[in-house]
Order: sequence, then structure tokens, then C-alpha cells
Amino acid sequence: MDMPQIMENDDIILEIPTSANEELAREIYAEVTDTIELLKPWLPWAKDTYSLKDEMKFLKGQCIERFKDKSGYAYLIRDKKTRQFCGVIDIVRIEEDAKAGEIGYWLAKKMQGRGYMTKAVLLLEKTAFENGFNRMEIRNESENPNSANVAKRAGYHLDGVLRKDRWNPYYKRFADTNVWSKLRSDVE
Ligand SMILES: CC(C)(COP(=O)(O)OP(=O)(O)OC[C@H]1O[C@@H](n2cnc3c(N)ncnc32)[C@H](O)[C@@H]1OP(=O)(O)O)[C@@H](O)C(=O)NCCC(=O)NCCS
Repeated sequence: MDMPQIMENDDIILEIPTSANEELAREIYAEVTDTIELLKPWLPWAKDTYSLKDEMKFLKGQCIERFKDKSGYAYLIRDKKTRQFCGVIDIVRIEEDAKAGEIGYWLAKKMQGRGYMTKAVLLLEKTAFENGFNRMEIRNESENPNSANVAKRAGYHLDGVLRKDRWNPYYKRFADTNVWSKLRSDVE
């Protein structure tokens, strides 16, 4: 289940950076800062204290190190024509035996509402299935309709709802989780 470092279609490029430099960290950090209020309710790392240093850690750890040891794949999404940074899509919680992985994502505020994430999910899963994955999963908090709509638009099956299995520190409440999946056999 080796994933490539880069993949693309007519509209987008998904790329794992091979080195972490300050210019790249600043580019992503600027979009995180611009989008932070939309991220805070749903992503535990998105806090007002999030810093450029954290962005560097993300690039070095989540992107570069994890790609090396194949424990996860975090891709920067870019517009194919303009190369503008759109957001991040990743595969985490990889289960080698089950050949399964979970897709996570966020988009920069200014790139939302244009279909980038649906396209990114479809490109990522296609490549994942070609590279040995059998099941891709998307989990989202049931009260997060934007995330659920990506899963629906990309044709994922709602396997079920985990009742109050998580704590949302932003809203200070227990929350349900939607579990969505797509199998390789669904697209073959
Ligand atoms: C979840 C998130 C990535 C969804 O972003 P999004 O822009 O709504 O999703 P997409 O990029 O797929 O765009 C879909 C929207 O673009 C529109 N669109 C325009 N052109 C499109 C195209 N060619 N293809 C698909 N959709 C298109 C769709 O109609 C839809 O808009 P609507 O929801 O008003 O109907 C974004 O809301 C986000 O980053 N949220 C915060 C972080 C988060 O919740 N992450 C998930 C945690 S589980």
C-alpha cells in the first residue's frame, strides 16, 4: 500500500512536500490563519495559538516523516493551473491487514464552495485503490454538514453513526460520528 508522492488530474495536484522550508510553511500558515474560525469547531489542532512553528512541525512530521515510514499520507492540494494552495487531504489510521485507511481534509476559506475537496477525495481514493487499499473511510462529526456533503457528493456509503463517541472541545459537548466508506469493489 505505497502511495505516490504526487498525483494529479485536469484540475488539481496532490503533493507531499519532500522538504520543509519556511516559505512553504508561511504559505500554508497564512491560509490556516485566514480559515481558523471555520476549522476550530471540527479540527482539534486548529487553535488560536496555532503558530508558524506548528506549521513546520506539520510539514516535517505529518507530511515528510509519515511518507517515509508509510504510516500516513498528507497531501497539499493545489489548483493545477494557478498552483494556488487549496488545502490538505490525508490518509490516516492505516490498517495494513484490512487494507483500510481514513481520509481527512480541510480547505482554505477562499477555496471552499468550488468542488476542490470532492475532486481531491475522488483522485486520492482512485490512486489508493490502484495501490492496494480496499476500503477508504471518512469520519465526520454528525453536526458538520459541509464535511458530510463531501462524503455524499463523492459517493460514500453511510455505514452508520457512532453515538456520542467523541468530545467536541469547541462546543463542549459529546458528539456523534458518521462513518462513511467506499470499497474498491464499489468502483470496479
Ligand atoms: C469540509 C470542507 C472541506 C468542505 O468544503 P466544500 O468547499 O464545501 O467542499 P467542495 O470543495 O467539495 O465543494 C463543494 C461545494 O462547491 C460547489 N461546487 C462548485 N463547483 C463544483 C464542482 N465542479 N464539483 C463539485 N462541487 C462544486 C458544490 O455545489 C458545493 O457547494 P454547496 O455545499 O453550497 O452545494 C470545508 O467545509 C472545510 O474545510 N471545513 C472545515 C474543516 C472540516 O470540517 N474538515 C472535515 C473534518 S471531518
